[in-house]
This record gives sequence, structure tokens and C-alpha cells, in this order.
Amino acid sequence: MKREFTTAETDPGRLALTLKAVVVPRPIAWISTVSADGVTNLAPHSFFTVASEVPPIVQFTSIGSKDTLANVEQTGEFVVCLAGRELLAEVNGSGTNYPSELSEFEELGIETEPSGKVTPPRVRRSPAAIECRLAGTVPFGNATVVFGQVESIAIDEEVLDGDHPDVRKLDPMARLGSNEWTTLGEVLELDRIPFRPTTPRG
Ligand SMILES: Cc1cc2nc3c(=O)[nH]c(=O)nc-3n(C[C@H](O)[C@H](O)[C@H](O)COP(=O)(O)O)c2cc1C
Repeated sequence: MKREFTTAETDPGRLALTLKAVVVPRPIAWISTVSADGVTNLAPHSFFTVASEVPPIVQFTSIGSKDTLANVEQTGEFVVCLAGRELLAEVNGSGTNYPSELSEFEELGIETEPSGKVTPPRVRRSPAAIECRLAGTVPFGNATVVFGQVESIAIDEEVLDGDHPDVRKLDPMARLGSNEWTTLGEVLELDRIPFRPTTPRG
């Protein structure tokens, strides 16, 4: 027996909470931007994924109008920093709605380092950062989906196994429903199975 949460009959807030509780776990993009006035900004966004491989494009969604979205629209640049478990308090702290003239980096004492290809800085302690240039936006109601062309991915040598980022060393955090978070659980390795007909057809 399943209970149906139809869009027509469910309160929109309840539907959104339900949706976010079942689309889990979501990776967290810790997004660094700079305003046109030069104020740095940092905020977590869990509506985040890879949109395209070639060209390399990532996407995140701003619900409502936030400093991150305004800065990206003004400057055309952002950096997605990856947040390992040790940065939980800082990531959560940067989700506080600071006024736009205050920098989360400064308010929370989060150290920066210069990016290689764009102006917004990287979080120094973040093991991986994806430097992006705005590729376009698509609005849906009060949401704006932001697409960013990847210019460079900066990865700490310490989390690399050869050329490959080691997920255990990245130790990423992810968002669940409500106020829940999670960390990396069991990692399963399984090769894709190419199709091979076993019995002649026809
Ligand atoms: C883990 C986490 C994930 C979040 N994901 C999103 C998201 O995907 N989109 C969004 O608009 N806000 C999201 N938020 C809320 C924003 O981070 C919050 O509104 C923040 O104050 C926005 O900052 P800004 O105005 O400096 O951009 C999230 C918050 C947390 C703690």
C-alpha cells in the first residue's frame, strides 16, 4: 500500500519537503562567488549535479533570489568547492542568511586561496574545487537553475590516487531530507556489463 502525495492535493511546502526527503543523498556544492562590489560570498547548494560531460557543465538551483545567484548573474563566475566531513560546521554556518554586504568567509573565518581561472576564491581546506563560468540560467517559478561551464578542477594532491580522486580521501558530505546530513557509507565496485546475446535469436 502506498500513500500518494499528488501535486494537486498536497500543500506545496509539504510536497517540497517530501521531494527533498526522497531525492537523497544529494551532493553539496559549496559555492564561492564575488559580488560586483567585490564582497566574497559562500553558500551551500544541494540541488547540484553534473549536467553535461562534453562540454563539461555543472548545474545548481537557487530557490528564490539569493546572494549567490545575484553574484553569478552579475559576474558570470562561480566556484563549486567540495566539502569534506571535517567542514560540516563551516558549511552549515554558511547557510545562514547573512546580509549581502557581509562575507561568509570573513564572518566564519574560512580561509581562502586564489582560484586559477576565475575571480571567486577557493576554500583553502576544500579538497576539490570546480571553477566555472556562467553558461546560462533557466527559471522555474521561484527557482533558477544555473549552468556553469567548467574551466578547471583543482584537486588536492593528497586526495589523488594517480590521476583519480580517491572518494574515501575526499570524504564528501551529502544532504538528506529535513535537517539531516550524511557521509560516505559503503563503497561498492561493480563493472558495467556489456550486452552479449547468449542464445541465438529468431
Ligand atoms: C546543506 C544545505 C543545502 C542547501 N541547498 C540549497 C539549494 O540547493 N538551493 C538554495 O537556494 N538554497 C540552499 N540552501 C540554503 C542556502 O544555503 C541559504 O539560503 C544561504 O543563506 C544562501 O546564501 P546566499 O544568500 O549568500 O547565497 C542550502 C542550505 C544548506 C545548509
